[in-house]
Amino acid sequence: MLKQDVVRDIIGDSYTARKEQGAGTAYVNIALCKYWGKVNQELHLPYNSSISIALPYKTHTIVTTNPDRDAIILNDEVLSENSEFTKRTVEFLNLFRKNTYFTIATKNDLPTASGLASSASGIAALVIALNDLFNLRLSKRELSILARIGSGSAARSIHTGFVEWKSGKSSNESYAYRINTKPWNNLRIGLLVLTHAAKKLSSRQAMQSSATTSPYYSAWVEKCQKDIEHMKQHIVNHDMQSLGYLAQENCLAMHATAITASNPMIYWSPKTLRVIHQVLDLQRKGHEIYFTIDAGANVILLFTDALSKVVSNYFPDVVISKAQFDD
Ligand code: PMV
Repeated sequence: MLKQDVVRDIIGDSYTARKEQGAGTAYVNIALCKYWGKVNQELHLPYNSSISIALPYKTHTIVTTNPDRDAIILNDEVLSENSEFTKRTVEFLNLFRKNTYFTIATKNDLPTASGLASSASGIAALVIALNDLFNLRLSKRELSILARIGSGSAARSIHTGFVEWKSGKSSNESYAYRINTKPWNNLRIGLLVLTHAAKKLSSRQAMQSSATTSPYYSAWVEKCQKDIEHMKQHIVNHDMQSLGYLAQENCLAMHATAITASNPMIYWSPKTLRVIHQVLDLQRKGHEIYFTIDAGANVILLFTDALSKVVSNYFPDVVISKAQFDD
């Protein structure tokens, strides 16, 4: 099965632009139980399920048809055909194209100092905008599957709140849904940007290298299967301590597979390690603060509002936000 077959299965062949423009909004998500490796590279079917939390930073995208060529406008700037962003967007649009081009105008409201990637919210917002343009009325499950074939973690950005992306055994089974829980209003997420340097290796390549060469990869997958079930319980219970420790442990296990790949990927800078030690020190002093780190050097902190002052004093550059629970 190819990506094109997934699209055809979901939206058929008889769609066409039903209005002048389509609009879509999607939020950034941070994984607490990580996605790190695919069983099926073409369809982005992951080895394990993952869990994320939505942040209040979003991508808003408007899509219109264009008779002449594709045009990609990011944050009010027309991108060149050769930019990576244009190439990735055009490649994804090819799956939905029928003798037409598109103009995509997309805006991110991520604070520039946040160091957050917008690819997941970007693909999710584009899928929602296409659904609107073609008036397809797809379900969230279908939107999540379409976002998944654009970029794995985008499957989760179709929703807000706490989200599980079920690995599934086939394309139809591999989608994200919102975990049924009350909004967790005093939960806080702190972003610590330690570098703005671009990653040396894309997470797409890096996760595959971990999966095929790390001796710890199978242990990682087994661990995730257990973590998912425990994590859902801690989320439903709003149990900061258990959720925080588990998210931290899961992140370290993911990095262990990257560090031990035959092409070692050590994402942490000396500054990252310093923050890790600072957080562990705070934990030893009895503070409920935890960290998670994606495929980069920046650190994401988890704590509740009661600790916001301590966190700001300790990490003056931290950007603190609540989680996003509304669409
Ligand atoms: O969806 P991708 O290819 O950007 O990979 C995301 C990988 C991590 O951010 C490290 C983990 C995750 O689950 O988001």
